[in-house]
Amino acid sequence: MILLLCLLCMICGEPVWSLKNGEFSFKGDIQQVAIGSNNLYIATTEALYQLRPNFTLIHSLTLRGTLQNGDQPGKESFQRVPENGKITPTFSVNVLLPFEKNDTLISCGVTGNKLCGFCEVLDLKNISKLVYSEFIQVGPQRSSSGSVSLLVDVKEDSGQTETYILTAIKNLRDKAECSTDLKTINLQNTDQNQPGEIFSWSGRSGVKPGIQTVADVEFVDGFQINSTVYLFSNVASGGKTNKVRLIWLQAETSKAQTLESLHGATLSSSGGSRLLASSVIPGGQQVLWSGVFSVDGGESNTELLLFDVSPDLSREENRDPDFYTSVDKPKNPSEPKALKPQAVLSKKKYMSSVLAVKQDSWTVFFIGTTDGQLIKLPVDKSNRPACPKEHYRASGNQKVFPKILQDPVDHKQMYLIFKDKIKRVPVSNCSEYMSVEDCCTDPFCVWCVSGKRCTFKDDCKYDWMSIPDEYQQEVISYRAEKDSTGQVKVVVNVHLTLAQKIRSEFTCEFVTNVRRLCGTLSQYPQCTCVLSDDFHSNELDLILSVRLEAVLTKSLKLIGCSDSTLSCQQCIRAGCGWRENRCTWDSEGVRNDRVCQPLASQPITAKPEIISVSPSRVSYYGRNHALLKGRNLRDVIGVKVQTETACSKESPVWNNTGESLTFHIPSRTNEAEAKVCAVLSDGSCHGEADITYQSVPSCTGVSPSVTWRSGKRKITITGSYLDTVEMVTHNQDVEYHVQKEYPPQLQVPPEHINSTVGL
Ligand SMILES: *[C@@H]1O[C@H](CO)[C@@H](O)[C@H](O)[C@H]1NC(C)=O
Ligand SMILES: *[C@@H]1O[C@H](CO)[C@@H](O)[C@H](O)[C@H]1NC(C)=O
Ligand SMILES: *[C@@H]1O[C@H](CO)[C@@H](O)[C@H](O)[C@H]1NC(C)=O
Ligand SMILES: *[C@@H]1O[C@H](CO)[C@@H](O)[C@H](O)[C@H]1NC(C)=O
Ligand SMILES: *[C@@H]1O[C@H](CO)[C@@H](O)[C@H](O)[C@H]1NC(C)=O
Repeated sequence: MILLLCLLCMICGEPVWSLKNGEFSFKGDIQQVAIGSNNLYIATTEALYQLRPNFTLIHSLTLRGTLQNGDQPGKESFQRVPENGKITPTFSVNVLLPFEKNDTLISCGVTGNKLCGFCEVLDLKNISKLVYSEFIQVGPQRSSSGSVSLLVDVKEDSGQTETYILTAIKNLRDKAECSTDLKTINLQNTDQNQPGEIFSWSGRSGVKPGIQTVADVEFVDGFQINSTVYLFSNVASGGKTNKVRLIWLQAETSKAQTLESLHGATLSSSGGSRLLASSVIPGGQQVLWSGVFSVDGGESNTELLLFDVSPDLSREENRDPDFYTSVDKPKNPSEPKALKPQAVLSKKKYMSSVLAVKQDSWTVFFIGTTDGQLIKLPVDKSNRPACPKEHYRASGNQKVFPKILQDPVDHKQMYLIFKDKIKRVPVSNCSEYMSVEDCCTDPFCVWCVSGKRCTFKDDCKYDWMSIPDEYQQEVISYRAEKDSTGQVKVVVNVHLTLAQKIRSEFTCEFVTNVRRLCGTLSQYPQCTCVLSDDFHSNELDLILSVRLEAVLTKSLKLIGCSDSTLSCQQCIRAGCGWRENRCTWDSEGVRNDRVCQPLASQPITAKPEIISVSPSRVSYYGRNHALLKGRNLRDVIGVKVQTETACSKESPVWNNTGESLTFHIPSRTNEAEAKVCAVLSDGSCHGEADITYQSVPSCTGVSPSVTWRSGKRKITITGSYLDTVEMVTHNQDVEYHVQKEYPPQLQVPPEHINSTVGL
């Protein structure tokens, strides 16, 4: 029976690839992905593919074949066999490099019974055209994970620039007899005309230079910027804890000189941490680089760090303790420079990949996780992260592989790589933002004033508004001041960048609750409202409208800043200043709530405590009418839900009995573990409870799919994250309440659970 089934499989043959929902799926697992200026090249365990950026297949080439003996050793040829169902050996591709200057694609790996090296040079525009092939080892002999390869341009002293293949190979000690010349880091020729011919290691003198190591080394990333080559690796020598190492090579003079110009650094975060993935931040004088580090070596505890990795060539070259070009390990190496991170950009579980994209003064980090999320994190020029957002979620929560590629021509597209599929995702979907405020949190989008919608910047030339240069908690901020003549001024700042053309159209309007005139002066980005000198009312409500075709409004509550009973938090919220431990009108007073933190724990007779919040697991739409239970809640005026500092939100409360109260759990834009505390009128926050935000529910099936006309049939809906579902709507707009049939407190991530509804 099994035999018969197998036979059947062979006859029908599975499709080798398929394209669905912007996702290209392959039969075999992906080994290598490379992106050229016009095409994508993907090597799987079965075939090599050439795709257009929009995933139309141009050519595919099977990697199954046999070695045919040639007339002399080393001259065997690789004969491809058409897909015929017979199990034939494959050519396993470990190095795949588009060589644009030469219009070729270099594809190297191992094949044959002994798994020895083989390389093909293919036509970049038509991979079915073989330009050259040779049995030679380029790159790792085992799997390509832990090894990196790239093309390096070396400015030779003859004035010419030569391109070489740099391979950095994981734990080379496991090498077999077919590649004795291989070192840990090698430079091999790309051209027949270079000394020693194509794929040769030799330098001009005929010796074969290379960088060696005795430690366990796993390479994570490598790239060249101007004449410097950067290589990042995890090094563990002699049972010591893991070190994250960076080496710099100066690609100048010659092949041998390049390898000997070795300088290095250690990237220090917490001890024993491990580099999982990395991305250089494009542009700039300094070379800024971001890395996903595992704090304890595992997958769960990860952080995204930012380093300045500009080369430091001040120390003596080639004296590294881990990497050396001499035959033996040097006797007196010098300690490499220790680089410290400039910023911790994110601490989040299960991060596994990163891509940094520059947009004006912002850098946007796309972070992939082992459970299939793609998070978008904008960071401003002072390295302040804004609020992260879930940008895409892979079906089946598949792991996102370390490299996320950006389309080199259409910068608005990127490619996510999974085990056996590749997905194209735009960097932004601007049209999903319906308001100016939401649109202007995304550095790729602008609010187009005449079009009244959110678009990519290139799609709106003259009348756009966009995110400010630096991170701001709110779009509108204000402060109140009184000058020596007793005149009260409310100064409003609008934190948006406006196209030059519409700056003059910027106006503000203040509406007040008492019949008091407010002389308004508007000049982008500020509006000032000058109140007459008899301001002594205790509270004045102002409604501000900022006008620009689109209207932004904000309510401000003005109070007398000289009131000595005001707490620091109340004072700052009212736009007043804090100086010498009291609230003031004085323009010298600090108007930033960071000044309040040391004072937040003023003695309170009975501090509020939180016992529970229900529900404690919500989708990232949040939840209305959540119940908080606790003690001493009587004076609580709000509930703060905080995660990253940039995304904390406060909700008002009602039905406060002292033992319980009701509030709305605010929405978020990504999964998170949030902390809840209870806010008193002085701004201090007390107690603690956890809320888990998870992805939004999705439906994958419904069974049975027919019901009786009289209804009342039990239907099971299958999908992900259904435990936050409150209601199911029917296409006739009938709402059904879900009868929950699973434990309300789930211990495991609630993926793929069933929910039953009565229809
Ligand atoms: C993909 O792009 C090519 C040329 O760039 C175009 O001819 C083709 O129609 C596109 N295919 C799809 C499905 O958009
Ligand atoms: C690609 O190359 C193959 C082999 O040389 C050839 O048969 C085929 O016609 C070429 N296709 C195109 C579109 O040039
Ligand atoms: C491209 O590489 C091939 C193989 O080494 C070589 O024969 C050819 O001269 C190169 N062409 C150019 C334009 O560099
Ligand atoms: C690389 O060279 C370009 C052009 O000379 C220069 O603008 C850029 O700042 C350099 N980058 C670095 C990191 O040195
Ligand atoms: C972009 O957002 C709009 C509105 O939410 C949605 O209809 C559309 O499907 C989204 N497009 C993509 C590519 O996600």
